[in-house]
Amino acid sequence: MVNTGRAVVIGASRGLGAGLVRELAGRGWDVVGTQRAESAELAAAAAANARVSIATVDIDDPASVAALITGLGDQKFDLVFVNAGVMGPLHNSIDKVTPAELGALMLTNAVAPIRTAQALLPLVKDGGTVALMTSILGSVAGRRHGLNGLYSASKAALNSLSRGFFAADIGKRPVTVINFHPGWVKTDMGGTGADIDVATSVAGMADVLAAPRAPGQYYLDYNGDTLPW
Ligand SMILES: NC(=O)c1ccc[n+]([C@@H]2O[C@H](COP(=O)([O-])OP(=O)(O)OC[C@H]3O[C@@H](n4cnc5c(N)ncnc54)[C@H](OP(=O)(O)O)[C@@H]3O)[C@@H](O)[C@H]2O)c1
Repeated sequence: MVNTGRAVVIGASRGLGAGLVRELAGRGWDVVGTQRAESAELAAAAAANARVSIATVDIDDPASVAALITGLGDQKFDLVFVNAGVMGPLHNSIDKVTPAELGALMLTNAVAPIRTAQALLPLVKDGGTVALMTSILGSVAGRRHGLNGLYSASKAALNSLSRGFFAADIGKRPVTVINFHPGWVKTDMGGTGADIDVATSVAGMADVLAAPRAPGQYYLDYNGDTLPW
């Protein structure tokens, strides 16, 4: 359970990440939101709430992650939320995908989030939480359709790598890992026809983060319902 404290949201320039920053700061958290390039939405969040500060990182680049950590100084966090992700090639086809497209998708959605979580883990307080933004589409056990195959595979890879992260990196530390499905959300990625808006999704995830929970790894949607791996 992390009710309030200090959080860092990685990938907060727009969409769900920016929404998380606004929601957490509104609930009294001190929040560092990260951007790759200057974000008007994140700047507006910082202007509206003094609890918000801004840092810069591209999770694909280990040197950029190292610079972020240097910039965070001696701050310790109750919550590290790695939200950054991409849709990948719109054709989503295993027949059409190029090695470069596949590499970029798997790097940003699966490898880089875990590498970033590993790098930030020493900054997570005992009793804290590492949240990873995956998707219900990353569920292998729950998959009964052929939608968004490559994107889904990248989130399944994230889920798989996160299980190793929990076992090997978290180890016996009292730190919780939550793999979140945010719902199908109206963002640049989710599109205008999605089920819910950003405010609904991020309020749900903030409630889930605040709920009492033993240290462990959980795969949950924004309502707190458990998903099959
Ligand atoms: N929307 C949905 O329905 C839905 C459903 C399930 C899961 N998700 C997941 O939720 C997360 C957020 O999605 P969204 O809908 O808010 O998408 P979005 O509006 O496209 O935002 C994606 C965010 O990730 C950042 N990002 C991408 N690559 C990055 C990198 N290499 N380093 C740092 N930041 C990077 C983007 O920064 P820039 O502005 O610099 O590009 C942006 O802030 C993603 O992981 C997505 O897969 C979304």
